[in-house]
Amino acid sequence: MTSDNRTETRREIWDHRYAARVHPAEPALVLTEALHLLPRAGDALDAACGVGGNALKLAEIGLRTSAWDLSPVAIERVRTEAKWRGLGVDARVRDIVADPPSPRSFDVVCVAYFLDRTLAAALAAALRPDGLLLYQTFSREAVTDRGPSNPEFRLVPNELLRLFPGLIVRAYRDEGCTGDTCRGTRDIAFLIAQASR
Ligand SMILES: C[S@@+](CC[C@H](N)C(=O)[O-])C[C@H]1O[C@@H](n2cnc3c(N)ncnc32)[C@H](O)[C@@H]1O
Repeated sequence: MTSDNRTETRREIWDHRYAARVHPAEPALVLTEALHLLPRAGDALDAACGVGGNALKLAEIGLRTSAWDLSPVAIERVRTEAKWRGLGVDARVRDIVADPPSPRSFDVVCVAYFLDRTLAAALAAALRPDGLLLYQTFSREAVTDRGPSNPEFRLVPNELLRLFPGLIVRAYRDEGCTGDTCRGTRDIAFLIAQASR
């Protein structure tokens, strides 16, 4: 299968999922935990945005927000929801692996539940000086079966730290299966990291 075919198949799978189910547009924990760290103005990107829970939150707090996803169905949802909430979100169908953000183009880059390791360097480079990366996705050390079953799409311990070595770590959470697994932030890891000035 060519990479174009793989992309098309992935797009169809996500379109189908978004058409079949109404996903609530909720911001990820990594974003709600970072609200006090965000700049008051600037450009933000929700990469692989799905129905745009993070994009809508970023726009709500006053950032000029772009939302990119492979799925036209998801992007249509973001546009409709943004309009309904009276928010300006520049939502576009875009393959972020084939067409990653330009260097130094965003003050905030948010990625939730999407993992393509080949994109990490481009995401870090997309940050302007002082810019913040907010990254959250599923980890292999999990206490439920939420998320992808293919371990390739899940993080190993400390992997986010290794994927973004040039950034300053502001917060990192990766609780694995340690301690009382009925409590805490499980199944995911998140990183809040900053580009240097
Ligand atoms: C698990 S969903 C996460 C959506 C959203 N970030 C969230 O937290 O709800 C993964 C998303 O990645 C998108 N995606 C997959 N490959 C992509 C690519 N190459 N470029 C852009 N989006 C992609 C899918 O269309 C899907 O919306």
